[in-house]
Amino acid sequence: MPWLGRPWRVRGRAGSRCRELLRPPRALPWAPCPPSSARITDGVYRPLPQQTYPAGRVADALSALRHSRHLGKAVLTFPDTEPIVVTRPDDGPGLQPAATYVISGGLSGLGAATARHLASRGARSLALIGRRGAASPEAVLLLDELREQGVDVTAYAADITDGAAVAAVFDQAERKGRPVRGVVHAAMQLDDAPLDELDTSRVRDVLAPKVRGAEVLDELSRHSALDFFVVYSSVTALIGNMHQAPYAGANLHLESLMRARREQGLPGLALGWGGISDTGYVARTLLDDTIARSGIGLISPRTAMAALDRHLGRESEAAVVIGVMEWERLASILPSLTRPRFSTRLRRIAGAPAPEASADLRHRLTAADDDAARHALIAEALREMTAATLHTTPDRVNCSAGLADLGLDSLMAAELKVHLQQTFGCELGLMEFMAAGNLSGVAERIDRALRR
Ligand SMILES: NC(=O)c1ccc[n+]([C@@H]2O[C@H](COP(=O)([O-])OP(=O)(O)OC[C@H]3O[C@@H](n4cnc5c(N)ncnc54)[C@H](OP(=O)(O)O)[C@@H]3O)[C@@H](O)[C@H]2O)c1
Repeated sequence: MPWLGRPWRVRGRAGSRCRELLRPPRALPWAPCPPSSARITDGVYRPLPQQTYPAGRVADALSALRHSRHLGKAVLTFPDTEPIVVTRPDDGPGLQPAATYVISGGLSGLGAATARHLASRGARSLALIGRRGAASPEAVLLLDELREQGVDVTAYAADITDGAAVAAVFDQAERKGRPVRGVVHAAMQLDDAPLDELDTSRVRDVLAPKVRGAEVLDELSRHSALDFFVVYSSVTALIGNMHQAPYAGANLHLESLMRARREQGLPGLALGWGGISDTGYVARTLLDDTIARSGIGLISPRTAMAALDRHLGRESEAAVVIGVMEWERLASILPSLTRPRFSTRLRRIAGAPAPEASADLRHRLTAADDDAARHALIAEALREMTAATLHTTPDRVNCSAGLADLGLDSLMAAELKVHLQQTFGCELGLMEFMAAGNLSGVAERIDRALRR
């Protein structure tokens, strides 16, 4: 290795873990450092700070890591004195080889992952429905894989809202002597936009596959002795989401349909996923990072399928949310989470002003001598909030710099917007916020809104 100059030497017994690579001796103007093992025993290198948790409290350790409540390392210990409680994973539903399982949206994303999962659990006949059928981009690989495992799988090119087309799927299963015994409704279509940009047809396109599709499956399966009827919903049914009103509404409908089925003694389970990694819409559109930063952690399809098993395998609520949510972080972006019904679950939002501070600021604004004083008060409060959002100090926030130049992206702007609403009690649309250009512009808009 010519770039290293003279060859390196190895010190210590061969096979010993203490062998060290030694730089060849050179005429150095300073004393060579002692070997690293000596620096450990000398106390030059000290262990990082650590918090220890007995293995039985691994969940607490992970929670501390997730919420950055730890300093240094979280260390698990295995004390003899404390028993470790292990929960046996559920075996999930017993799948019948002589039955067919129908999956809408089963030719891509989480629906396809579900098809693979059901096959791995013993399903031998699958009916996968999507408008593109076998022409879906993921279908070729999926179908090959399932057939190699001996699964009788059919890809149906059908719209899940088309009752006659879906009835044909159920009929074919009967004719094969493998009647439908389980349904997973995963079909969805998204069209994200602010409400005022949507029209009837755009809203209908999002609602139809979820709402009408679930109704079609519900009606057609009423006479089948189903072991399960699962719909894939989303955490948005619980908390809403910017630009996803029709999607959130559709998922909410799915959940109420599952409750109604339960009340009638029929199986019904709505799984409200948070975010799924590696497959499906979020992974395909490269939104992983944005979703994770908004406070919705992504879980792998494998974890999702383990949750499916768990909830099918035991008495569960008709609608459950499954995901890793950082509620405080989410609340800093979604105003809906600041509503009283979530108050018991959420501490005060990080970076948000304390209620007393907001009241004091509003009082000072009312008492301000003139427009210039008012404006200065607003600008200063805004500078402090922006600094908190950017995790910096107010003196480093330039009110004349462009919002993008400050490092504010749209998620941060949404967070700041919620804080503004809580501080000044006035609503500033996200577009209006971004259009202001810089913080001085935002301050002017707040001032105008307060005077209205
Ligand atoms: N991925 C996530 O992070 C996430 C998070 C929360 C909830 N979920 C839920 O999980 C489910 C699957 O999500 P995904 O991300 O895996 O979705 P995806 O990959 O986009 O798959 C959606 C599937 O639905 C089918 N579909 C759409 N409209 C249809 C219609 N009218 N009739 C029949 N099939 C239709 C699509 O196929 P065609 O286009 O060929 O019809 C496609 O195969 C959805 O219900 C979603 O709400 C997912």
